[in-house]
Amino acid sequence: MTDSPVALITGASRGIGRAIAIELAAQGFDIAATARVPREGAQAHPLDEVGARVAQHGRRWLPIEADVSNLDGHAGVMEQVDGAFGRLDVFVSNAGVAPERRMDVLETTPESFDRVMGTNLRGAFFLAQHAARYMLHRRAAIAGFRPRLVFIGSVSAEASSPSRAEYCISKAGLSMAARVFADRLAGDGIPVFEIRPGIIRTDMTAPVQERYDAAIADGLVPQRRWGEPEDVARAIAALARGDFDYSTGLVVDVGGGLMMPRL
Ligand SMILES: NC(=O)c1ccc[n+]([C@@H]2O[C@H](COP(=O)([O-])OP(=O)(O)OC[C@H]3O[C@@H](n4cnc5c(N)ncnc54)[C@H](OP(=O)(O)O)[C@@H]3O)[C@@H](O)[C@H]2O)c1
Repeated sequence: MTDSPVALITGASRGIGRAIAIELAAQGFDIAATARVPREGAQAHPLDEVGARVAQHGRRWLPIEADVSNLDGHAGVMEQVDGAFGRLDVFVSNAGVAPERRMDVLETTPESFDRVMGTNLRGAFFLAQHAARYMLHRRAAIAGFRPRLVFIGSVSAEASSPSRAEYCISKAGLSMAARVFADRLAGDGIPVFEIRPGIIRTDMTAPVQERYDAAIADGLVPQRRWGEPEDVARAIAALARGDFDYSTGLVVDVGGGLMMPRL
């Protein structure tokens, strides 16, 4: 078993998950990171670059190929973490998808609904269940072990977008999942947090970049800039370090004031 704390981040090949993996490595965590199998024709595995950045911080690295929506693979993810490190200090549920096509709520298809829910809510919930069980199982064996769970939700848990109802519904459900885990695990000394990113510059928002550029310039985001993946990663670092351990159930907006009530 490693003496260093270990973080498992889902969906760490790019965007917010990638930034979290690099930031937590800088904070002294060994890193296990998941991504789906590489797309056909890809030159290198997308996790390789992240692994190199983690190694620059002198941390150990475990890439895991896993589709979060495939529940049959979840036990295998935890077995790999256990085999490599023998502990899990921070679980970050980050993997998520947007609808492939934005559709009015009156046109949302069952296929798109199931696809988004399958990763963002069903997959995230059941993998977190595995992670929590594993943390409880390892608690007695590791002195000073203070594990934590973090869910990457979204402002869309509260803000309605009629053109991507399935995404908003998945994030609203995930928010309650975070609260239920926080409630259940509080007495076991495992704090649980939810981060709600606002408009963050990643592949997910690339297709709507121009629209958001205009909206941000127009004042939609009070801090008047895009969020960067590193803005989210820094917030996670504070949670992962334990700075908010007496605040289980905390929801942290990382959105430049997007959700601030204004007149
Ligand atoms: N960008 C924003 O403005 C924004 C705002 C609020 C919340 N969020 C949330 O933040 C999280 C990260 O988003 P992002 O913007 O960084 O998105 P992104 O750039 O599209 O990256 C998504 C990541 O999730 C992985 N992923 C997707 N489906 C997966 C699955 N079924 N199993 C395993 N991994 C999967 C992808 O891995 P592959 O390489 O395998 O595709 C990729 O690493 C998501 O939960 C998203 O909903 C984003």
